[in-house]
Amino acid sequence: MAYSEKVIDHYENPRNVGKLDQDSQSVGTGMVGAPACGDVMRLQIQVNDEGVIEDARFKTYGCGSAIASSSLATEWMKGKTLDEAATIKNTDIAEELALPPVKIHCSVLAEDAIKAAIDDYRGKQKHDDAAPAA
Ligand code: FES
Ligand code: FES
Repeated sequence: MAYSEKVIDHYENPRNVGKLDQDSQSVGTGMVGAPACGDVMRLQIQVNDEGVIEDARFKTYGCGSAIASSSLATEWMKGKTLDEAATIKNTDIAEELALPPVKIHCSVLAEDAIKAAIDDYRGKQKHDDAAPAA
Protein backbone atom coordinates (compact mmCIF):
# COMPACT_ATOMS: atom_id res chain seq x y z
CA MET A 1 0.00 0.00 0.00
CA ALA A 2 1.34 3.40 -0.94
CA TYR A 3 1.40 6.22 1.58
CA SER A 4 0.41 9.67 0.37
CA GLU A 5 3.08 12.36 0.16
CA LYS A 6 1.51 14.19 3.09
CA VAL A 7 1.69 11.09 5.29
CA ILE A 8 5.33 10.60 4.36
CA ASP A 9 6.06 14.28 5.03
CA HIS A 10 4.57 14.13 8.53
CA TYR A 11 6.19 10.75 9.17
CA GLU A 12 9.65 11.97 8.12
CA ASN A 13 9.26 15.39 9.77
CA PRO A 14 6.74 14.96 12.57
CA ARG A 15 5.60 18.26 14.05
CA ASN A 16 5.40 18.79 17.79
CA VAL A 17 6.78 15.47 19.00
CA GLY A 18 7.35 15.54 22.72
CA LYS A 19 5.89 15.74 26.16
CA LEU A 20 4.26 18.38 28.33
CA ASP A 21 4.06 18.27 32.13
CA GLN A 22 1.21 15.88 32.75
CA ASP A 23 0.77 17.17 36.32
CA SER A 24 0.35 20.80 35.29
CA GLN A 25 -3.11 22.25 35.81
CA SER A 26 -2.93 23.87 32.37
CA VAL A 27 -2.09 20.64 30.53
CA GLY A 28 -4.56 18.08 29.24
CA THR A 29 -3.35 14.58 28.34
CA GLY A 30 -5.09 12.11 26.07
CA MET A 31 -3.79 8.56 25.96
CA VAL A 32 -5.64 6.25 23.61
CA GLY A 33 -5.13 2.89 21.96
CA ALA A 34 -6.50 1.38 18.78
CA PRO A 35 -8.17 -1.97 19.42
CA ALA A 36 -7.69 -2.88 15.76
CA CYS A 37 -3.90 -2.91 15.90
CA GLY A 38 -2.71 -2.06 19.40
CA ASP A 39 -1.08 1.23 18.40
CA VAL A 40 -0.95 3.84 21.16
CA MET A 41 -1.07 7.62 20.94
CA ARG A 42 -0.41 10.26 23.57
CA LEU A 43 -1.57 13.78 22.77
CA GLN A 44 -1.16 16.72 25.13
CA ILE A 45 -2.36 20.29 25.06
CA GLN A 46 -1.29 23.37 26.99
CA VAL A 47 -4.18 25.77 27.49
CA ASN A 48 -3.96 29.44 28.49
CA ASP A 49 -6.38 31.47 30.64
CA GLU A 50 -8.47 32.40 27.61
CA GLY A 51 -9.08 28.73 26.83
CA VAL A 52 -6.79 28.82 23.80
CA ILE A 53 -4.46 25.93 23.04
CA GLU A 54 -0.98 27.44 23.11
CA ASP A 55 0.98 24.27 22.61
CA ALA A 56 0.32 20.69 21.60
CA ARG A 57 2.61 17.68 21.70
CA PHE A 58 2.31 14.04 20.78
CA LYS A 59 4.05 10.73 20.98
CA THR A 60 2.70 7.87 18.94
CA TYR A 61 3.80 4.26 19.08
CA GLY A 62 2.29 3.15 15.85
CA CYS A 63 2.11 3.11 12.11
CA GLY A 64 3.02 5.91 9.72
CA SER A 65 -0.58 6.97 9.30
CA ALA A 66 -1.10 7.22 13.06
CA ILE A 67 2.06 9.29 13.43
CA ALA A 68 1.01 11.55 10.56
CA SER A 69 -2.54 11.86 11.95
CA SER A 70 -1.31 12.93 15.37
CA SER A 71 1.30 15.27 13.92
CA LEU A 72 -1.38 16.96 11.82
CA ALA A 73 -3.75 17.08 14.80
CA THR A 74 -1.21 19.01 16.90
CA GLU A 75 -0.71 21.49 14.06
CA TRP A 76 -4.43 22.04 13.72
CA MET A 77 -5.05 22.38 17.47
CA LYS A 78 -2.48 25.08 18.14
CA GLY A 79 -4.10 28.51 18.35
CA LYS A 80 -7.61 27.08 18.54
CA THR A 81 -10.01 27.33 21.46
CA LEU A 82 -11.00 24.08 23.15
CA ASP A 83 -14.42 24.22 21.51
CA GLU A 84 -12.89 24.75 18.07
CA ALA A 85 -10.38 21.93 18.57
CA ALA A 86 -13.18 19.61 19.68
CA THR A 87 -14.76 19.93 16.23
CA ILE A 88 -11.74 18.40 14.45
CA LYS A 89 -13.03 15.23 12.85
CA ASN A 90 -11.18 12.10 11.88
CA THR A 91 -12.69 12.47 8.43
CA ASP A 92 -10.94 15.86 8.05
CA ILE A 93 -7.64 14.25 9.00
CA ALA A 94 -8.19 11.26 6.72
CA GLU A 95 -9.07 13.55 3.83
CA GLU A 96 -6.10 15.85 4.35
CA LEU A 97 -3.72 12.88 4.46
CA ALA A 98 -5.54 10.89 1.75
CA LEU A 99 -5.70 7.83 4.00
CA PRO A 100 -6.89 4.60 2.39
CA PRO A 101 -9.83 2.73 3.98
CA VAL A 102 -7.65 0.33 6.01
CA LYS A 103 -5.94 3.34 7.61
CA ILE A 104 -9.06 5.29 8.58
CA HIS A 105 -8.88 3.94 12.12
CA CYS A 106 -5.49 5.67 12.49
CA SER A 107 -7.26 9.03 12.09
CA VAL A 108 -9.99 7.89 14.48
CA LEU A 109 -7.24 7.33 17.02
CA ALA A 110 -6.17 10.96 16.57
CA GLU A 111 -9.72 12.25 17.03
CA ASP A 112 -10.09 10.11 20.15
CA ALA A 113 -6.80 11.49 21.48
CA ILE A 114 -7.92 15.09 20.86
CA LYS A 115 -11.18 14.48 22.75
CA ALA A 116 -9.38 12.68 25.58
CA ALA A 117 -6.88 15.53 26.00
CA ILE A 118 -9.67 18.12 26.09
CA ASP A 119 -11.68 16.03 28.57
CA ASP A 120 -8.65 15.61 30.79
CA TYR A 121 -7.97 19.35 30.78
CA ARG A 122 -11.60 20.19 31.54
CA GLY A 123 -11.74 17.60 34.29
CA LYS A 124 -8.76 19.23 35.98
CA GLN A 125 -10.43 22.65 35.97
CA LYS A 126 -13.46 21.27 37.84
CA HIS A 127 -11.23 20.42 40.77
CA ASP A 128 -9.94 23.96 40.97
CA ASP A 129 -12.56 26.45 42.13
CA ALA A 130 -10.33 29.39 41.31
CA ALA A 131 -10.08 28.49 37.64
CA PRO A 132 -12.43 30.05 35.09
CA ALA A 133 -15.09 27.71 33.76
CA ALA A 134 -13.75 25.96 30.69
FE1 FES B 1 1.48 -2.24 13.40
FE2 FES B 1 -0.10 -0.06 13.43
S1 FES B 1 -0.62 -2.11 13.12
S2 FES B 1 2.02 -0.21 13.61
FE1 FES C 1 -3.46 1.08 13.67
FE2 FES C 1 -2.45 2.90 12.13
S1 FES C 1 -2.52 0.79 11.77
S2 FES C 1 -3.22 3.17 14.08
